[in-house]
Amino acid sequence: MLLVPMVVLFLPWLQSALGGRNMWLIKQQVLQSQEQRILKHLLKNSNGMTEPKEGLFPQPLDHFNRRNNGTFKQRYWVNANLWEPRLGPVFLFIGGEQVLLSSSVLAGEHVDLAQKYRALLVSLEHRYYGKSINPDGLTNQNIQFLSSQQALADLATFHEFIGQQYNLTRNNRWVCFGGSYPGSLSAWFRLKFPHLAFAAVASSAPVRAQLDFTGFNKVVSHSLSNPVVGGSMKCRSAVASAFSQLDRIMAGSNTSQLEVDFKSCQKLNGSDDRAEFACNLASIVMGTVQYNKVVLSRNIANLCQIMTNQSLGSVYQRLMVLNKDYMDSIELQCVDNSHQNILANLRSTEVKPYAMADRQWYYQMCTEFGYYQTCEDKGCPLSHWLTLRFELDICAEVFGIDPGSVQDAVDFTNSYYGADHPASSRIIFVNGDIDPWHVLSVLKNQSCSEVALVINGTAHCANMNPVEQDDPPSLRQARQKIDYQIGAWLAEEHLSSW
Ligand SMILES: *[C@@H]1O[C@H](CO)[C@@H](O)[C@H](O)[C@H]1NC(C)=O
Ligand SMILES: *[C@@H]1O[C@H](CO)[C@@H](O)[C@H](O)[C@H]1NC(C)=O
Ligand SMILES: *[C@@H]1O[C@H](CO)[C@@H](O)[C@H](O)[C@H]1NC(C)=O
Ligand SMILES: *[C@@H]1O[C@H](CO)[C@@H](O)[C@H](O)[C@H]1NC(C)=O
Ligand SMILES: *[C@@H]1O[C@H](CO)[C@@H](O)[C@H](O)[C@H]1NC(C)=O
Ligand SMILES: *[C@@H]1O[C@H](CO)[C@@H](O)[C@H](O)[C@H]1NC(C)=O
Ligand SMILES: *[C@@H]1O[C@H](CO)[C@@H](O)[C@H](O)[C@H]1NC(C)=O
Repeated sequence: MLLVPMVVLFLPWLQSALGGRNMWLIKQQVLQSQEQRILKHLLKNSNGMTEPKEGLFPQPLDHFNRRNNGTFKQRYWVNANLWEPRLGPVFLFIGGEQVLLSSSVLAGEHVDLAQKYRALLVSLEHRYYGKSINPDGLTNQNIQFLSSQQALADLATFHEFIGQQYNLTRNNRWVCFGGSYPGSLSAWFRLKFPHLAFAAVASSAPVRAQLDFTGFNKVVSHSLSNPVVGGSMKCRSAVASAFSQLDRIMAGSNTSQLEVDFKSCQKLNGSDDRAEFACNLASIVMGTVQYNKVVLSRNIANLCQIMTNQSLGSVYQRLMVLNKDYMDSIELQCVDNSHQNILANLRSTEVKPYAMADRQWYYQMCTEFGYYQTCEDKGCPLSHWLTLRFELDICAEVFGIDPGSVQDAVDFTNSYYGADHPASSRIIFVNGDIDPWHVLSVLKNQSCSEVALVINGTAHCANMNPVEQDDPPSLRQARQKIDYQIGAWLAEEHLSSW
């Protein structure tokens, strides 16, 4: 039977473009593009597998206070086609800050490994994202149960649940996988629940929380000038000079020309709208670097070709071309730069399973991680309107959270999980050096069983995608090391259990 995740074909991905920042639209586009790639992959390699099982199971709303008897239904997926029940391991794919689809147990690095190690493939959607949320989950009162600690406790319950459903024994060892925030969860599940998670692969995992994440745009700057991915010093300086020209115009009183040139949906009203405008334009560059080559049409090489092409006019005019290309790629008619619209969107408590989950993620940023991608330092090549103050105001405006408390939350996250020195074992941290997030991850081997792999020339989570013909040798090599390491760990334990 052919497996086709039909849902891919009609998901209303970009439906709620209004009131959403460009970075979120880019994220949606990336998700869609990955789904399409997986669909293509499945059409080629159906392997006679049967359809994965989708399930919902009840989960306590608050694991840490059993006097709260509330529950929600959490979604999971199971693909048992490759599994050898007696000794086959369980490969857990951990969901994160977005909807989790059947593709999570059908394609990707972990599925290729499952084929080799005959693993049971399971995945769990993160609480409060996708379908895994109560209809009243997004109210300021109820969103308090959204946290990484609760999410890890969900994984513990899920471990028990799947264990019963599939009659698992201690011989069926759990290896967890995740990328980006779920990459951190993957490492942290092994760290905090070593009796449940035997090993973990943490891809592009920003395990070190940081309030003012200036490093993000430092890597953006570096990647724009990196010839390995089609960047150059000329490209970096063209981008920097275009944004400094924008900043000069925005410092003046009249922004009418900007509104026309960059197709703003409305007049920019005051400094908040100007900051949104700057943020939306900067996001095109930031998103292109973070997801280099994930959306095939958009990558650093193309961006640099536009930004260094003198026949397109001044750097300002080239930035206009870049913006237009981006808008065309997602069929956006105009860019919403209204700060009031963006706040209204973030305040909306309506649950929409497939829409952008920006309210949820902003909440986690305010209460756990910070991660504000600012551009206030002198060397930053994007708009200096990306300030920490502007970002932190959202915590107060949307959730009533004191911006001054966010640093404390970040500090707690780092002491709770160990930042970039988690003292654990059997974890592989994988990062690409083009990816701006890599600087918050574990980049050095911590011990012989807590290993860091840094891939030359790849972006966010590149190793997790299905194998492609044009994967660079550095990526192939990293995948081989991951495979070898997991094989060695699984073999070691099986020997001792004989
Ligand atoms: C849950 O707790 C509330 C009071 O906190 C109680 O009224 C309700 O009956 C309980 N529900 C269940 C299913 O136990
Ligand atoms: C688990 O074991 C029970 C009883 O031994 C059996 O009925 C059930 O089919 C088994 N489930 C699976 C998935 O093997
Ligand atoms: C703003 O600039 C535009 C042209 O760039 C001009 O047409 C318009 O009159 C100016 N508005 C004000 C209020 O100065
Ligand atoms: C412009 O912004 C001010 C506050 O900065 C607000 O009171 C006003 O309603 C806004 N005007 C429009 C048309 O959005
Ligand atoms: C530069 O832009 C012109 C006009 O769009 C185009 O014809 C040309 O191919 C571009 N050059 C490069 C190197 O991309
Ligand atoms: C960590 O050790 C592994 C071998 O176990 C090696 O392949 C890898 O390159 C090392 N990572 C770093 C960042 O030195
Ligand atoms: C990455 O690979 C390129 C060749 O593709 C090489 O020139 C460069 O030195 C490598 N960088 C690192 C940090 O190894």
